[in-house]
Amino acid sequence: MSAIRWGILSTGNMARQFAEDFQYSRGGVLSAVCSRRQNDAEGFAREFGLEHAYSSLEDMLRGGQLDLLYIASPHSHHFDAAMTALKAGVPVLCEKPMTTTLQATEALYEAADKAGVFLMEALWTRFNPAIIEMLEWIREGRIGEVKTVHANFGFAVNVEPDHRLLNPALGGGALLDVGIYPLFLAQLVLGEVASMDSRVEIGETGVDVHEDIWLEHAGGGTSSLTASIDRFLPNNAIISGTRGYIEIPGHWFAAKSLRYCLEGKEPEWASFDFAGAGWHLEATHVNECLSEGRTHSPLYTPQDSIRLARTMNLLLDQWKTE
Ligand SMILES: NC(=O)c1ccc[n+]([C@@H]2O[C@H](COP(=O)([O-])OP(=O)(O)OC[C@H]3O[C@@H](n4cnc5c(N)ncnc54)[C@H](OP(=O)(O)O)[C@@H]3O)[C@@H](O)[C@H]2O)c1
Repeated sequence: MSAIRWGILSTGNMARQFAEDFQYSRGGVLSAVCSRRQNDAEGFAREFGLEHAYSSLEDMLRGGQLDLLYIASPHSHHFDAAMTALKAGVPVLCEKPMTTTLQATEALYEAADKAGVFLMEALWTRFNPAIIEMLEWIREGRIGEVKTVHANFGFAVNVEPDHRLLNPALGGGALLDVGIYPLFLAQLVLGEVASMDSRVEIGETGVDVHEDIWLEHAGGGTSSLTASIDRFLPNNAIISGTRGYIEIPGHWFAAKSLRYCLEGKEPEWASFDFAGAGWHLEATHVNECLSEGRTHSPLYTPQDSIRLARTMNLLLDQWKTE
């Protein structure tokens, strides 16, 4: 099978980090990039060794050298770009969150389904080996019955009010940017949400800058989650069960180690050594999916993505009415 040819939309922070990590992936090649400005696209293409540079998404898709579009524009721009690609029959890996609303996310998966084209939200943590091992330990019953997920993700941003993180028009706010990760972990470990409560702080630009979220899961268990873009958090996660707990230390969403603690025993550590930050693991997974002719990932499914969108939508709706 020949290498999957990737096109990247946007040349921002995420696109650059992804392109750097891509060298460690297997089965694909970065082929084209599209930026709002031709100069920026050409600079990015030169820097990362891409063959083609565009200033129009339609032209990049029409160019015909793409097997996949990777969308790394602000959240608010994901829907239009993904829909354009799907309608052109081009598979899509779209940065998280897939879109800013449940309705738009569902519409994209429906369109992908109808067209028989691959679509996945880039929830890269799902492909992290430490997270995969954590799920295996839970499945083996190493911590007993899982009762609670504690997880947080937060940092204090120092950006202008029109930056995408603070700008409501670009989908700004902590929940869609970082809160999505703790919610993802809670639902990965404990499944469907039955009820929830939250406390939010809204910043000067009108977006959520800090939130505490409590979930009750339909199958039992609770989650206590925090997300922030106005203060530094430890960025760790703890999954507690009736026999012990698993800690995923600092930057758990990009984990390289796990700590396993059983009542009355010395903690055990497991390390996971891989190059880069881990975005290449997601890229390799997507290449495998496309090579196998899949229209969605078996590890991070449309249902997982829609479930996450539904929970975030409910929270954002609650906060609007407060
Ligand atoms: N998976 C992860 O770990 C991770 C980490 C960070 C971010 N992300 C996701 O990646 C996406 C991009 O985030 P980022 O941090 O890369 O943002 P960023 O640095 O602001 O870059 C976004 C890029 O989008 C393009 N763009 C198009 N319209 C724009 C507009 N109206 N305003 C600003 N930029 C516009 C620009 O590229 P051009 O000038 O080339 O058009 C800009 O550089 C977000 O959805 C975010 O959630 C994911």
